[in-house]
Amino acid sequence: MKILVTGSYGQLGNEIRVALQQFPDTEVIMTDVDTLDICNKNAVERFFEQNKPDFIVNCAAYTAVDKAENDVDLCYKINRDAVENLAKSAAKIGAKIVHISTDYVFDGTANVPYSEDVKVCPKSIYGKSKAAGEEVLMENNGQNSIIIRTAWLYSIFGNNFVKTMLRLGAEKEQISVVFDQIGTPTNAADLAKAIVEIIHTKTFVSGIYHFSNEGVCSWYDFTKAIFDIKKYDCKLLPIESSQYPVPAPRPSFSVLNKAKIKSVFGIEIPHWHDSLLKMTEKN
Ligand SMILES: NC(=O)c1ccc[n+]([C@@H]2O[C@H](COP(=O)([O-])OP(=O)(O)OC[C@H]3O[C@@H](n4cnc5c(N)ncnc54)[C@H](OP(=O)(O)O)[C@@H]3O)[C@@H](O)[C@H]2O)c1
Repeated sequence: MKILVTGSYGQLGNEIRVALQQFPDTEVIMTDVDTLDICNKNAVERFFEQNKPDFIVNCAAYTAVDKAENDVDLCYKINRDAVENLAKSAAKIGAKIVHISTDYVFDGTANVPYSEDVKVCPKSIYGKSKAAGEEVLMENNGQNSIIIRTAWLYSIFGNNFVKTMLRLGAEKEQISVVFDQIGTPTNAADLAKAIVEIIHTKTFVSGIYHFSNEGVCSWYDFTKAIFDIKKYDCKLLPIESSQYPVPAPRPSFSVLNKAKIKSVFGIEIPHWHDSLLKMTEKN
């Protein structure tokens, strides 16, 4: 089996590399923008023809949510147009794609966890571009594609909320964090393990799936857990989102219902607090 990973220098890309170490017989091609710019249609087509991967795991994305509000063209180029390149080139060689999307495709007005059949209604440019990426993938390689929507991703690799709070908690006497945005964190190592498991041991069933860790919390609760684990003295104040204005609108409720991925693939998902503990042990 041959697996091509795009965006492999990112949080998830790195975790996929680690997860694939469990399968030493698998041939893995790790790429990022320096070796395979997914925006370059001809380069993608040529790369696929030459290497003939069985699976493409697309970890490449434009993920700067606030910057995207003023960087619309590049955001769409990476999150929609490049996904179309991957889908068309994969279809030509009969390759399967696992693509990652986001809870930001929802507007966050629900009060029960989002299942896959809820209509998307993104509010931010990033969310809109990711929803458009889902659409072009399904149009061009739908029979051979899995889309996994995830949320609040963090990892020992790259920059993320957990690492920021580990730093701020050690440096500051007091910080304020929003308590009115509710979701579920996802340790990228758990998502990577699930993706690798699906590819290696499960029957490939195309479609959209949701994956985060189990449980629910606000960003305030999440930060409280980080500070408690590290026994930081930093005082933590809950604030409303209106007190912390940012360029891109965030869904106020984006808990994902994971029943489908659990029942179709038999994936077991750890609780967010257990996974946070595992990550913070390494930091
Ligand atoms: N982070 C989150 O909280 C979160 C939440 C929900 C869903 N997701 C989704 O999860 C997936 C993985 O996210 P992540 O946090 O691992 O992302 P990440 O750390 O930002 O990594 C993305 C990688 O893609 C690379 N890339 C950008 N443009 C590229 C191009 N044209 N060709 C090839 N590679 C390119 C980036 O390089 P540069 O760094 O040089 O740009 C980076 O190495 C993404 O689809 C994201 O939308 C993330």
